[in-house]
Amino acid sequence: MWKYIRQYLPYAVLAALFMVGEVMMDLIQPSIMSRIVDEGVLGVNNGGVGDMNVIITLGVQMILLVLFGGFCGSMNNVFVHMSGQNIGNEIRKDCFRRIMTFSFPQLDKFGTGSLVTRVTNDITQVQNFISQFVRGMIRTFLLMFGSIYFMFAINRKFGLIVLCAFPIIVGCMAFCLAKADPLFSKLQKQLDAVNTMMQEDVSGIRIIKACVREISEKIRFGKANDELVKTQLSVLVIFAFMNPVINALMYVVTAIILKVGALEVANGGATPGTIMAAITYTTQLLHGITMLVMLFQNISRGLVSWKRVKEILHSEPDLKDGSFDGQTEQQGKIEFQNVSFTYPGTDRPVLEHIDLTIHKGETVAVMGATGCGKTSLVNLIPRFYDVTSGAVLIDGVNVKEYRQSDLRGKIAPVLQKSELFSETIGQNISWGKPSASSEEIKAAAVTAQADEFISQTAEGYDTLVAERGMSLSGGQKQRLSIARAVVKNAEILIFDDSTSALDLKTEAKLYDSLQKTNPDSTKIIVAQRIATVRRADRIIVLENGGVAACGTHTELLESCPVYRDIYNSQIGKDGEENERA
Ligand SMILES: Nc1ncnc2c1ncn2[C@@H]1O[C@H](COP(=O)(O)OP(=O)(O)O)[C@@H](O)[C@H]1O
Ligand SMILES: [Mg+2]
Repeated sequence: MWKYIRQYLPYAVLAALFMVGEVMMDLIQPSIMSRIVDEGVLGVNNGGVGDMNVIITLGVQMILLVLFGGFCGSMNNVFVHMSGQNIGNEIRKDCFRRIMTFSFPQLDKFGTGSLVTRVTNDITQVQNFISQFVRGMIRTFLLMFGSIYFMFAINRKFGLIVLCAFPIIVGCMAFCLAKADPLFSKLQKQLDAVNTMMQEDVSGIRIIKACVREISEKIRFGKANDELVKTQLSVLVIFAFMNPVINALMYVVTAIILKVGALEVANGGATPGTIMAAITYTTQLLHGITMLVMLFQNISRGLVSWKRVKEILHSEPDLKDGSFDGQTEQQGKIEFQNVSFTYPGTDRPVLEHIDLTIHKGETVAVMGATGCGKTSLVNLIPRFYDVTSGAVLIDGVNVKEYRQSDLRGKIAPVLQKSELFSETIGQNISWGKPSASSEEIKAAAVTAQADEFISQTAEGYDTLVAERGMSLSGGQKQRLSIARAVVKNAEILIFDDSTSALDLKTEAKLYDSLQKTNPDSTKIIVAQRIATVRRADRIIVLENGGVAACGTHTELLESCPVYRDIYNSQIGKDGEENERA
């Protein structure tokens, strides 16, 4: 954390200096007050005759001190927030940068909800912690030790009384904090769960409605929320019991001081004014201790949050760039050499011993039941995940040896789930190639069969896409995602179930024009429909983590029972439609 604090250290130091000013003013006041009472009102050294001049002079002094103290307090606040907010801002930016470097397995490990909680709520806690630390720590300690010091200065007995009470009070606080500390970690985890659910349910609210899951989701959310509240209440209860105990202790101290003070006045060891000052110092000490409790509470929470933020900041990017920076001879050849793959953190292999070569310019379709590993297979090519054993080669070079930017520059993937951003349609397409001209964007849209519906919108390519593409149909989103890949003009195109929402006619037109515009690109098409895959140069059927069959449509119909089964199950509806297409 020092790394961040260091950058804004001048603000923190200024804040601390103003704090010292503020507290000094607080500490000087009671002694002036005591002089006003003793010399001005009671005339202790003047045979019991008060002095109006002393009251006025000291009164004015006191007002000036209060004003100066107030000014110092305000300035302290300004600088505290300047350091706290800026430090929070830096941490947030660093976290975001770090998250952007995360690999797919790292994103799986943290989970989106938790990442969002960490970057928002946890960083706010850390920010509060820093502000509290700069403001509270200095104020509390100065106030506490200053009060004790001045108590000794007034009268040794008063000093000894508060000094004896001090360890008892601190011990009482430490006990409560030790009880509350584990609850803070729990609190943050539960907040994670609530945030994840909130995010999932709000972004998936349409599905909740469609499945009439409102009530059960309400109950599920309610339960998570209740648990959060329960923990929060446990923390509050601990502190609710602690505060009166500490207050009671302090009142006992005050009573003792009054009693001892009365005796001291009787034998001339103290004046009424000094007793007044002693009581004020005791109150200030109490104030300091109460603040310390709050402070420790926030510090405990802040430290738990800081640990969670640190987990992001200290997560090294686990995909290391390779050193290969030469030119490859062929462009677009893909080889799987004895590839096996298990998702990190699981123990069931998804792919086992896959051997496969896909040549430049070839169109290869991948089929198989849902969950058989099609997405997992194609995700190994751009290194979204790394193979568990074996190797994936592009143009004869292991994908791990490329620099990631070079590797991903060769590949244009269309993911199974179309994701668009809240920008214009044209901007969304140009994500594939930021330098694309409007002609290139339009050409890609034409290939992706998207130009027609884009032209029909009021603002064409300048039409804003709503968050996550909500304003578009599934098929429209898929076509925009395809246009985004096509505009890149990459050596390898990967379509992961990317045309499933298109009608067969549009789909056929899309693949025809793709073949015309990108004849040299290697194309991998994951699909479920025979109509989609039958035109491919080769069809690969995945089953039980391995390649069950590989060949053209006609070959597979003859040799592969699984493929024939799929064909027969679809021929009724798709088959006829397909013939027409
Ligand atoms: N991120 C992940 N972490 C753990 N397991 C996963 C992950 N993604 C997919 N799986 C599992 O891997 C298997 C293959 O999934 P996938 O490749 O998406 O199948 P397909 O694309 O063929 O429908 C499934 O059993 C799925 O549960
Ligand atoms: Mg899939």
